[in-house]
Amino acid sequence: MNGNSNAERKRVTVADFLKMKTQGQRIVMVTSYDYPTSIIVDDVGVDSILVGDSYGMVVLGYDTTIPVTVEELLPVCQAVKRGASHSLLIGDMPFLSFQISEEGAIRNAGRFIKEGRMEAVKIEGGREMAHIAKAVSNAGIPVLGHIGLTPQTATLHGGYRIQGKSAQSGKGLLEDAKSLEEAGVFGIVLEMITEEVAKAITETVSVPTIGIGSGRHCDGQVLVLHDILGLYPRFVPRFAKQYTDLASTIRKAVGEYASEVRQGNFPGEKHVFKMEDSERNKLDPRQKS
Ligand code: KIV
Repeated sequence: MNGNSNAERKRVTVADFLKMKTQGQRIVMVTSYDYPTSIIVDDVGVDSILVGDSYGMVVLGYDTTIPVTVEELLPVCQAVKRGASHSLLIGDMPFLSFQISEEGAIRNAGRFIKEGRMEAVKIEGGREMAHIAKAVSNAGIPVLGHIGLTPQTATLHGGYRIQGKSAQSGKGLLEDAKSLEEAGVFGIVLEMITEEVAKAITETVSVPTIGIGSGRHCDGQVLVLHDILGLYPRFVPRFAKQYTDLASTIRKAVGEYASEVRQGNFPGEKHVFKMEDSERNKLDPRQKS
């Protein structure tokens, strides 16, 4: 949060991300997948909203992010855009929307900008995807990289595992980060990387690192909104902090509604619309019109 009131708040830009790193100001990013939560998180003053492909899991109920498509994410991006007026908006490119070719990646990234009204895209992958990040960024679309645990290819890498436990894998991650920096990304998400390696990457690259499960030394943090709110029923990752238990709040509210309907206590007097007396009298079937 930049500490300014909403009226004087400026739109956060890609350039601000870089400035924040140099000034040692931590970057706050959160996911959102709809209009009402986009309004709230933007109003709170987060720096950036990510329309993550985690939408597939936390909203659509898929087991992984693999089935998510560009077509599914675009209307979500549009809804988030309608709610946000200050945060930097980033659309997450889903599995196989960017890996096949540079041309395909530019075309799909362009859809996130032109149709989804996002300001940047996120692409998963390190050295092997640097040429794609470079092509998209050369086409004029800001790219946020994403290394470490990359959920779209987790199966290939042996599942949802902490990355950078050995010096060798740590060095590999550093190489990934440097290749992405050279490719022109404006920031890099570090997911589930050991704190030591995340710190080394953060100190090495000039672009900001945004951590998720990667310790305390990243330039910023990102969390999935449903984890913060306690709204994802399957699990809460160990690295996430649940700040509230919205599931219980919703259960209580809907439970009260159900019992009030069953007991005839809802709707009450203040929820009903009345006719004028003169009209009500005419409605009486015993009255002649
Ligand atoms: O899809 C997503 O929400 C993400 C974040 C976890 C970084 O990629």
